[in-house]
Amino acid sequence: MISAERTYFFGNWKMHGSHHNVKAFACHFQKFQPALNHEIVLFVPFPYLMAIKGIFPSLGAQDCSIHESGNITGDVGAAMLKDMGVKYVLVGHSERRHYYHESQQILLQKYKRILEQHLVPVICLGESLEERGHQLTLKVLKDQIAPFLTDDEPKIFAYEPLWAIGTGTHARPDQLRDVYVFLKEMTSAPLLYGGSVTPQNAHSLLDVPGINGLLVGQASRDPLSWKALLTNQQNTIF
Ligand code: PGA
Repeated sequence: MISAERTYFFGNWKMHGSHHNVKAFACHFQKFQPALNHEIVLFVPFPYLMAIKGIFPSLGAQDCSIHESGNITGDVGAAMLKDMGVKYVLVGHSERRHYYHESQQILLQKYKRILEQHLVPVICLGESLEERGHQLTLKVLKDQIAPFLTDDEPKIFAYEPLWAIGTGTHARPDQLRDVYVFLKEMTSAPLLYGGSVTPQNAHSLLDVPGINGLLVGQASRDPLSWKALLTNQQNTIF
């Protein structure tokens, strides 16, 4: 069940890993017992989903096609992801918006494909440093989130300021409070934070009112830091 009462720990491996180390990582966490209200998910590259299916309990995909199926070489459809046991799919990660110029229209098509398969879209939002400098953060977020608020389907939003992703500089709680008050006014869907999350800062980020979980890049790929990140949270047993 998707609910803001739960806490989400999403590990986004991006285009990293090998068959061997993704599988070893999943095996390492096979016996991990999260607290009842915690959801722990790995978003690995498409080819490695197969390697950890049945080993890691909850799988996520980093993207999906705008098409259902057909002669579209290289694409992976939402139905195929469902077939692989995937539950969550990222939509509009800033790296995809940047490298592939994914427009809101494209993101909405992906969103529709994901919902058709009863998978859960995880929609990424975030402003650039320049936009923040011009006090445009809330306007950017409003424009990005609005098209996804026209239905009551289960979904998750992840606020990932572009200036915090992969930079080693996470947003400070005082920079996040207004953002989450604003987002909570717009939606009751769970809200995650992403951008340079580490085992050291995870706790203070989760303490910010309105944050229901974390989308973690680099720190999710090392078993020690992932374990530290999870076990630093109350009620998690390893
Ligand atoms: P990071 O990446 O934790 O390495 O900053 C987060 C993300 O891009 O989802």
